[in-house]
Amino acid sequence: MTDKENGWPDNPGWSELKLPDLLLVDSVREIHARIEAEWDYLQRSACQMAAGRALWKHVIHDPLAELLAGEACLRNLHEKIKKDRSNNAREISGVILAVRTLWFDSKIEGALTSINGRDSQVVLLGAGMDTRAYRLSCLKESDVFEVDFSELLQAKATLLNAAIEPPNGHHHQQKAKSLNRVAADIRSNDWLEKLKTAGFASEKNTVWVLEGLLYYLTHSQALQVLETIADQCTITHTVLLADFMNKPSTTLSNSVFHFYCDWPDHLLPSLGFSTTTLSQIGDMDAHFGLMHDPLNLFNKIRSLPRSLQTHPDDGKPCCRLYLVQASGSPQLQPSHKDNPQVRKSLSE
Ligand SMILES: C[S@@+](CC[C@H](N)C(=O)[O-])C[C@H]1O[C@@H](n2cnc3c(N)ncnc32)[C@H](O)[C@@H]1O
Repeated sequence: MTDKENGWPDNPGWSELKLPDLLLVDSVREIHARIEAEWDYLQRSACQMAAGRALWKHVIHDPLAELLAGEACLRNLHEKIKKDRSNNAREISGVILAVRTLWFDSKIEGALTSINGRDSQVVLLGAGMDTRAYRLSCLKESDVFEVDFSELLQAKATLLNAAIEPPNGHHHQQKAKSLNRVAADIRSNDWLEKLKTAGFASEKNTVWVLEGLLYYLTHSQALQVLETIADQCTITHTVLLADFMNKPSTTLSNSVFHFYCDWPDHLLPSLGFSTTTLSQIGDMDAHFGLMHDPLNLFNKIRSLPRSLQTHPDDGKPCCRLYLVQASGSPQLQPSHKDNPQVRKSLSE
């Protein structure tokens, strides 16, 4: 655990970035060189997330993250953390990602326990360099599906092979009952079909994980994905775990984000989910001991009404990230599924 209010340990050893030997292997270097040269910001965001998990290793156990992140992303984030540390920043770079990862980990486990885990499915949409299939024991009775772009999944598989081959293999055994990688663009109409072709069974209890994904889509694309998942509630017990940005988070200059929703806890019931709970970074179930400082950015805005888009003290935008769990089942259909116009207004 950490002994600092900003979640970073006081251990002096961290300031030196030590790269694992595997990153020096030729085949691994080649893949990362290709990622650097050819991938767009969207796909590279997957490596940035892995770098976050790798460098916040004092709270997240993800031993494959360094390999998947690659040297450039690790160095980049390491420099930012060093700068934050020397400036005594209240928020150290990567803390949101660390909290988000821990929140999703705990909610996946909770959801699988509540649906009695057996014979369940977990679908990671926009899985990126996620390694939960290798690191979460709660997936031992679950079929896991990772959906992402084809070139990303291929690179990920090749990188993982380098780690999983002997003599390293025994450290990185798969924990999930099964793991299927499904190459699909979720902006297209056929991603659910592709998932089914890969073995996804609509009648099985399913946990959907949309971590760091929705805001890269346009409004109509994001709504289509959420509607497709909500429709599954009429067939089987369905749990959705997703993070949503509010409007100010997506409208900062140079933003690459599109979809936002200020009220996901109203939007999701209108799509067909029967229960929805919402947390913000810093809430009881979303700080994991990493953000005690009452003056950090997240704690400062958490106490303000969510309708406020700028902080009354300094006029700065109230950038929020909502961590949302929603569920539904054929037995529990919501009484107030709204018309498309209402949905549109709630998500804009
Ligand atoms: C920020 S990363 C998050 C990755 C992972 N969920 C995590 O939290 O580490 C976003 C991921 O979504 C994927 N993605 C974005 N748009 C997509 C689309 N239209 N179809 C499939 N994958 C997509 C990207 O390739 C990337 O891997």
